[in-house]
Amino acid sequence: MRDVTTEPTSPAKPKDTVYREPRPVADFEFDEAVACVFDDMLNRSVPFYQEIQRMIAEMATDFATEGSNIYDLGCSTGNTLLSLGAAVGKSVKLIGVDYSEDMLKRCRDNLADHGFEHAHELICADLNQGMHIEGASMVTMVLTMQFIRPLYRDTLTTSILQGLNDNGCLILVEKVLGEDSVFNRLFIKYYYDLKKRRGYSELEIAQKREALENVLVPYRLMENREMLLRAGFRCCDVFFKWYNFCGMVALK
Ligand SMILES: C[S@@+](CC[C@H](N)C(=O)[O-])C[C@H]1O[C@@H](n2cnc3c(N)ncnc32)[C@H](O)[C@@H]1O
Repeated sequence: MRDVTTEPTSPAKPKDTVYREPRPVADFEFDEAVACVFDDMLNRSVPFYQEIQRMIAEMATDFATEGSNIYDLGCSTGNTLLSLGAAVGKSVKLIGVDYSEDMLKRCRDNLADHGFEHAHELICADLNQGMHIEGASMVTMVLTMQFIRPLYRDTLTTSILQGLNDNGCLILVEKVLGEDSVFNRLFIKYYYDLKKRRGYSELEIAQKREALENVLVPYRLMENREMLLRAGFRCCDVFFKWYNFCGMVALK
């Protein structure tokens, strides 16, 4: 089948071969080995990643207010910061947060390579420990809440809400479970088919799935929605959905 979801990847980015060879089972980590191939991993593992980035930037043009902060929690190599920086005015400060020093190093290099001059700050912090957020018109969490221990997700969501200005928004992109086991099984099958079309072998897919088993804990779309409303967001909507991937926007 022709891959209609293939998106452009930069030929300069190193290819993700982390799980190409057989390796002992160990939990997935955002370490140096992953950080240096992460952009290729994202582009080949996340359906419509570039379109999601474009949509986030589009929403930022409406939500970012002068003099406010935008936080990107789980900023990795800085792709969302780059998208946001291109979309919002210079008076908006961009704050990237990640607990992986390896990711933050890549992020710094990536921003420098792109000549990024937007006011910004990169913070190394573990979001499981909570996060102080202030003066935010927007908070983005792209594929990161799923890595926060479920025990701490409500607290983090509440502190995001507290740090948002009125009418500010949280953008939450997550891998999700299907609402029913039948859909769940099918969606995962279609997702692995996408990964195969994008050049990952059965072994790579199986080894990565095992590595993520205890690390990436997805909720159902409805569970994410309930978490947002429970924290006190006044409304929330879905702006992106592809099988087991979902983008939601919630308003303070
Ligand atoms: C899938 S990546 C996010 C991708 C990125 N948002 C983007 O759109 O390109 C998840 C990121 O969250 C970070 N992360 C995971 N758990 C974290 C935690 N407890 N505290 C802070 N960062 C965390 C990882 O280091 C990783 O960079």
